[in-house]
Amino acid sequence: MPANLTINGRSIEATGGQSLFDYAEAVGVDVPTSCRKQGKCKECMVEVVEGMSLLSEIAEPETHLKGNFRLSCQTFVNAAEGNVRCYTMRRGHMRIERHAFGLPLSNRAFELDPAATRDGDRILIDGLEVGRSTGPILGIAMDLGTTTVVLRLVDLETGELIADTSFENPQRFGGSEVMSRIAYDTEHPGRLLMRTLAGYLTHAIEKFPVDPKTIYEMVVVGNSTMRDLFFRQSVYSIGQNPYQSITEIEMAEGKRATTSLVQTGLRSLLPIHPKARVYGAPIISGHVGADAAACMLAVDLAHEERLVAVMDIGTNTELIVGNKHRILAASCPAGPAFEGGAIACGMPALDGAIESVEIVDEGTFRLGVIGDTPPEGICGSGLIDVLSELLRTGRMNDMGRFEDDVRRVTLLRAEGKDIFLLESDVNELAQAKGANVAGLHAVFSSYGIDFDDIEVFYLAGGFGRHLNVESSKRIGLVPSLASSKIVQAGNTAIEGATIALLSKSKRQELEDLVRRVEHCRLETHPSFFEFFVEGCQFKPVEPIPCAR
Ligand code: FES
Repeated sequence: MPANLTINGRSIEATGGQSLFDYAEAVGVDVPTSCRKQGKCKECMVEVVEGMSLLSEIAEPETHLKGNFRLSCQTFVNAAEGNVRCYTMRRGHMRIERHAFGLPLSNRAFELDPAATRDGDRILIDGLEVGRSTGPILGIAMDLGTTTVVLRLVDLETGELIADTSFENPQRFGGSEVMSRIAYDTEHPGRLLMRTLAGYLTHAIEKFPVDPKTIYEMVVVGNSTMRDLFFRQSVYSIGQNPYQSITEIEMAEGKRATTSLVQTGLRSLLPIHPKARVYGAPIISGHVGADAAACMLAVDLAHEERLVAVMDIGTNTELIVGNKHRILAASCPAGPAFEGGAIACGMPALDGAIESVEIVDEGTFRLGVIGDTPPEGICGSGLIDVLSELLRTGRMNDMGRFEDDVRRVTLLRAEGKDIFLLESDVNELAQAKGANVAGLHAVFSSYGIDFDDIEVFYLAGGFGRHLNVESSKRIGLVPSLASSKIVQAGNTAIEGATIALLSKSKRQELEDLVRRVEHCRLETHPSFFEFFVEGCQFKPVEPIPCAR
């Protein structure tokens, strides 16, 4: 009997002799490649989720991969029977937030003033000629996340959005969070992370309905590690206390005037105009990166009189609090639990993820699932809902213990696969929540304000966009503010990057703004541990007396 191979949910009998890449082609799955199965481009990665032992030995071209990743062109099914299941990078299947909502600068409430301009057939960047063409002048804004990458293509002469796209960051083979990527990049010379990403970016850009050589400028935002990896900077220092980007260190030493970075399209290994300017927006400090800086631009903090907060919940949660007069920012290492990591039935927000949960009637679970597919696991918003519902119905107490000494709550019994939540999962989620809440308390108390002083609370990012606010308030993940104050703003980082791309003056405003931000270092806050312990409990976030 031949082995049963499933790639991206499509199955085929693997009779041997062909690579996973060949089988993927046979079932119509598009595998990224630039070398056509030569083992050189390193782009054809798949993540094997079942049947790793049935596959051929690791070949020399794939020794750089960690975990369950393989190069599909180098991997063969050896066994005569059994199941192998794998996925290409989940481009197009991930629910990635490309848009922003409810922001003051939406609908271009600023002057179109790009750096790339035209003088006859001369194309200029800041007045210097970079080429001659009568074609369009285009630009790309990029939000380079640890997990996902979002690109927006815009016409720099009209400000119109031409296209956008998103995909899973292929650097996942070097670990799922920034500290592992830093360790990977330090241990593996050759800029493998950067090169692999550049390959995927090249495919994404070439799929845009334009000539890539008409792209003359690109604005890149991302956390400090992702941004610096892209610009070929050493990221070693970001992984060591006091966790600083090399650009931050050089600026403190007087070697540079800003933490922003600039390189050409050619050096970026992208198919855009070779003299295009690729601008990496400035970081704030430490792990509080250029994505958080871009959020400040998107919420127009430079002109904001009201006290606002921005919270982007993720593996590293970013927090910004303030107004035009004073701004505080922090980064909380919350871990991957709310992204489904380290949870028995957890998964990212892909098709098949349970995204909403309600307990109805005699305790049955009503489940909302992403996509038209049977449930496979629970993503972050579903985890928040299930915790909230267990708490509401008394099946879990505020310490995260299940009633009647059970260790597991089953949401769904299905043939072959139950979907459940373990008490140990709840512990993981409690700690992730504890870190977020501790961050909130530390930043607010350092500012000398209480939650009620906030007039607008932006929940940024894809996770913040899709979570149920009432559930989040009940378990104490976000403060119990009036719902009218909470804006589920979506991808504010890409919005900020787009604004910086379309306006030189806004870009300068961003450069000025980051210098004024006070970095609240949570690890040195005297009450952080106390806040953390308090935050691990599942109850609404209580105001804590301010350290005024
Ligand atoms: S196709 Fe290039 S390494 Fe596999």
